[in-house]
Amino acid sequence: MSDTLIIEGGQRLQGEIAISGAKNAALPILCTALLTSEPVTFHNVPRLQDIETLLALLTQMGVRLVERNSNSLTLCADAITNPVAPYEMVKTMRAAILVLGPLTARCRQARVSLPGGCAIGARPVDQHIKGLTAMGAAIEVDHGYIHVTTTGLRGTHLVTDMVTVTGTENLMMAAALAEGETIIENAAREPEVVDLAECLSAMGAQIQGAGTDIIRIQGVKRLHGAAHRIMPDRIETGTYLCAAAVTRGRIRLTHTRPDTLKTVLEKLQESGCQLHVETDAITLTAPERPTAVSLQTAPYPAFPTDMQAQFMALNTVASGTAIIRETIFENRFMHADELKRLGADIRTEGNTAIVSGVPALQGAAVRATDLRASASLVIGGLAAEGQTRIEQLHHLDRGYERLEEKLTILGARLHRIRAEG
Ligand code: EPZ
Repeated sequence: MSDTLIIEGGQRLQGEIAISGAKNAALPILCTALLTSEPVTFHNVPRLQDIETLLALLTQMGVRLVERNSNSLTLCADAITNPVAPYEMVKTMRAAILVLGPLTARCRQARVSLPGGCAIGARPVDQHIKGLTAMGAAIEVDHGYIHVTTTGLRGTHLVTDMVTVTGTENLMMAAALAEGETIIENAAREPEVVDLAECLSAMGAQIQGAGTDIIRIQGVKRLHGAAHRIMPDRIETGTYLCAAAVTRGRIRLTHTRPDTLKTVLEKLQESGCQLHVETDAITLTAPERPTAVSLQTAPYPAFPTDMQAQFMALNTVASGTAIIRETIFENRFMHADELKRLGADIRTEGNTAIVSGVPALQGAAVRATDLRASASLVIGGLAAEGQTRIEQLHHLDRGYERLEEKLTILGARLHRIRAEG
């Protein structure tokens, strides 16, 4: 059983909140602790279910949680006694695959459960396996586990078949301790990849080109401890901006990085929102009613797939019709059916959704299916007339720190019903 969120829609969002550290930067960056026997300290780590799951995974390997307070923590992998990521833990969080590269590089062996698919797609990890194999790892996949051994990784020239964010991150972490130079061509350019490279460099790694599609890594014998501050969450930022856009709101988001979500800001302006952008803050003033904006998702720096569901929610109440094309994942329109329960007019055909704006949504009971789908239902519920009940809230808890608290500060009327037991 999972909690339920009750939202009384129609409140204008106004006020100021701080953005938390980025989930999709923190997950790979916490795994860098596996690459050294010295303590590594991380700041601005968001308090999320996925982070707790990863910490549990790392500590059962033998990594020590040396200290932790609010959003800082120190990990020390001076003795990795169990280089295994068991199915029970991996099935709830696919990003656990990010231990594969570091364990292979540091322990020269690993047993990592194949991450199953998830609601949005098959999510294979063939590129992770192909890259490590090319670097000299012997890999077998059987009984649902990836078994890796190596006598030592060697640098090589890799070209990934498609742009893969965690694939790039896994291979970059493995290459940091490989012998010789590794080139990753067709690399992901996401800001979270750059943040990871900055953390690895602080630990003594030699990396050039992070943020471009060609990353060069000269392997070193060992990495040392360091301290790193996780970058702000660009998807959390975009999510709150969309919520303000559909409630005639005016909000200011601090501790964020506007330079990491340019395409999202452009689409919000296209929808009629006024933006005031500072170095680490964004103020959005929404129009009476947003204008429909069409979009197509693609790897960074193009429009992020993790903001697609939130913009579909915005378009449900916009004036006009929007065409949304999802090019990254094969099944990332599950929120459409739930938004239609709120009265949205959406037609999906393959990876294209046609959204015709309606004057208003009506509150209803809906069900979250995945993290960003649940965010789009929150946005729909905030815009809708009447009460919306969102079930299966564990999806939302994976990726948004203190969501109810932040929305309440902005004037939303909502509360959580905890599941029994
Ligand atoms: C990361 O997932 C993010 N997760 C996702 O965010 C995000 O949606 C995605 O990148 C795309 O930006 C984390 O960073 C923890 P990919 P990842 O490998 O790395 C295919 C969220 O909501 N592919 O870039 O798993 C894959 O199927 C989550 O926070 C292969 O075929 O995504 C997909 O179609 C959801 N083989 C495409 O590439 C591989 O070996 C991009 O996937 C790897 C990927």
